[in-house]
Amino acid sequence: MFWQKRERGCGSFFALGQPRAVQRSGSGVLLVQRKNKQGKALPQPVVKWAGGKGQLLDRYSRVFPPAFNAYHEPFAGGAAVFFAIRRRGWSGKAYLNDLNPELINLYVVIRDNFPALMEELKVHEAHKNNRDYYYEVRNWDRNPRQFSRLSPAKRAARTLFLNKTCYNGLYRVNRSDYFNVPFGRIKNPRVLDGDNLQAVSLALQDVSLTCRDFEVALAAAGPGDFVYLDPPYQPLTRTASFTAYTRDSFSLLDQQRLARLFAELEQRGCWVMLSNSYTPEIQALYQGYSIQVVQASRAINSRTEGRGPVEEMLITSYRPRDQSLLE
Ligand SMILES: C[S@@+](CC[C@H](N)C(=O)[O-])C[C@H]1O[C@@H](n2cnc3c(N)ncnc32)[C@H](O)[C@@H]1O
Repeated sequence: MFWQKRERGCGSFFALGQPRAVQRSGSGVLLVQRKNKQGKALPQPVVKWAGGKGQLLDRYSRVFPPAFNAYHEPFAGGAAVFFAIRRRGWSGKAYLNDLNPELINLYVVIRDNFPALMEELKVHEAHKNNRDYYYEVRNWDRNPRQFSRLSPAKRAARTLFLNKTCYNGLYRVNRSDYFNVPFGRIKNPRVLDGDNLQAVSLALQDVSLTCRDFEVALAAAGPGDFVYLDPPYQPLTRTASFTAYTRDSFSLLDQQRLARLFAELEQRGCWVMLSNSYTPEIQALYQGYSIQVVQASRAINSRTEGRGPVEEMLITSYRPRDQSLLE
């Protein structure tokens, strides 16, 4: 059985403590605590991202391995799971990767040049409700030569500003790699959230940030490491695809490549957890592993009729501690 994992010969496991940063409201809805007892901000995702896992954290956290060495998230996006384990006090070595260069540049600047980012954001903050200003900043990438000469901090501030003020927090580029999401008409977008950005900057210290294909990014994953895989989802229907985080889409061949890597990581002795849509193709790829079906609401879809609750799969290479969650 796949979940009967071998003993891992590593001595440096760090056990995840009890969730200190989550609370339940009276209705049982999970509330994420934004500050610790001393009033210091706890790191929250800085971008709204399609497929973001904020709403599923409670369910997912019961499936995390009890202890692990390093943490790897090769499809980071908003990195909701990474920030959740940091909020629980886990301070080990982490590897975040995403094929989207603007997103990774944003994380690098938050980690290494927080003051410069704050300066750039102040400029955008002053124009956050101005539609013409939005399109002016959006169009910076229409001149690729000039765009590539912008400082990393300017590009990072643009990414964050567009994410907060565009329609529904979408990230979508066309074939020319131009960001093409319309203005969002959001009443009071939070462009400059200094407390959270500072907490995120701290959380990212000593985190490896790369912009590569997932297979290359996972070359360093070793025994006892926790690997969370959250690829662009396999579309539920042929027309429902939203895979435009980068210019290239994620095909069924990529899903198959990922399933082979999942098995290889399991062989290497990693704890592997993967989320994907509940489709026959994905189910077939992970036969024999522990599979749970979870209800999620799709907050971001390029077409509004595609929103609403959907079933997703959570697949693990090990048997989760909370066995009541198993089928
Ligand atoms: C479902 S999203 C991840 C959402 C994330 N877990 C969150 O909480 O926001 C998938 C991510 O995979 C990235 N991606 C697409 N193809 C990739 C590839 N071949 N290698 C690495 N990342 C890729 C996309 O840019 C996107 O950010």
